[in-house]
Amino acid sequence: MEQYVIKGGIPLRGEVEIGGAKNAALAILSASIMTDETVTIENLPDVRDINVLLEAIAGIGAVVQRIDKSTVKINGSTIGDLSVDYEYIKKIRASYYLLGALLGKYKKAIVPLPGGCNIGSRPIDQHIKGFKALGADVDIKNGAIVAKAENLRGNHIYLDVVSVGATINIILASAMAPGRTILENAAKEPHVVDVANFLNSMGANIKGAGTDVIRIKGVEKLHKTEYSIIPDQIEAGTFMFAAAATGGDVLVKSVIPKHLEATSSKLEEIGCIVEEFDDAVRVCAPGKLHHTNVKTLPYPGYPTDMQPQIAVTLAISEGSSIVTESIFENRFKYADEIRRMGANIKVEGNSAIINGVGKLTGARVSAPDLRAGAALVIAGLSAEGITIVDDIVYIQRGYERFEEKLKSLGAEIEKVSSEKEIQKFRLRVG
Ligand code: EPZ
Repeated sequence: MEQYVIKGGIPLRGEVEIGGAKNAALAILSASIMTDETVTIENLPDVRDINVLLEAIAGIGAVVQRIDKSTVKINGSTIGDLSVDYEYIKKIRASYYLLGALLGKYKKAIVPLPGGCNIGSRPIDQHIKGFKALGADVDIKNGAIVAKAENLRGNHIYLDVVSVGATINIILASAMAPGRTILENAAKEPHVVDVANFLNSMGANIKGAGTDVIRIKGVEKLHKTEYSIIPDQIEAGTFMFAAAATGGDVLVKSVIPKHLEATSSKLEEIGCIVEEFDDAVRVCAPGKLHHTNVKTLPYPGYPTDMQPQIAVTLAISEGSSIVTESIFENRFKYADEIRRMGANIKVEGNSAIINGVGKLTGARVSAPDLRAGAALVIAGLSAEGITIVDDIVYIQRGYERFEEKLKSLGAEIEKVSSEKEIQKFRLRVG
């Protein structure tokens, strides 16, 4: 199993380029099969989740042509199989976007039920509520969701929970449904807007994405398009906190600063200087960081995907902080790991009380999930001594060339897969 080995205590300095947003790309790749013409998608992040979804799309019969690591052409006209193979949904939950896309275009889709994951049970009842409201019969059979409709028809749908996935899946299923769909209490994340913009570039008629009321007028057909994915605000935020936690000075490039407002404002609250440019933000960290409180909320609130990253930074900030996780029920699994690095963190229900300590010390830790794994790397970069992060396959799901980008900022980090390589690293860094 591959690991990261890190020598901490080095302030990160320099510039880093952010890639395309994984969570926008997963939805847009699924939406691309809704036309029989060829769709070209650029600025794809070269990460495991994207590559698995492209296999799933090829698996149902679409033609998938990888132009280069960040560009793909997809043509859905040859799709013959409306049933997605279990192996794909097991690897990435977001294969469930193929439900909305296949139902929307072919009025039938069979996708295995996504399991829970390390951060919570993650039900999909709101997705199913939306499909049924559009006229589909939805059953769970042999561990799969079977959705089919004689005819789909627009409807007025009110989400009980603000859900990114349900919002996107209902947009997909209704984009070609005759009539009008009004989706209330919709998620407003940047990647919801990106999916709507993508579908509109294919001839869809979707208005209001980015607000909590989205209006979709079904269209007969969708046509080819060329589209570039928005920058990944979570990858950007992760590097911003890496700069803060190491007392560094980093220019994070190819971002949309507006998407980072909640993150930037929290970094300023703990004492960083955040400078915004057209498509970049610069984070400069002072000697000492101080405490703050944060509660994760749907966009534009503070993102749950940035919760572990701020928590490990608060672990070395002066004073006592409270981190409240209001979106998922089990997103503090990194607490046990950073406690082994000397952090003073106590989890009570959906809050973590963190009393900052001067410094963390390096230890062997294990990544419990994607964002917590990235946060443990941040902890290792700031800690005194050597940290080894196991189970980095989680991190590789959503971060492209993570260790390379960190190295370009001066970090002492290597991807290794044996004790021998760890010893070699120790000898080299001293
Ligand atoms: C998306 O997950 C992201 N994943 C998550 O990012 C992100 O944390 C989450 O949105 C919130 O921003 C992708 O986009 C692939 P939700 P999603 O539906 O759509 C409840 C990462 O690290 N809910 O907005 O699954 C749910 O349990 C990942 O990149 C229902 O109750 O999240 C949760 O409490 C982790 N019923 C809340 O809503 C439903 O039918 C928000 O979930 C759907 C959701």
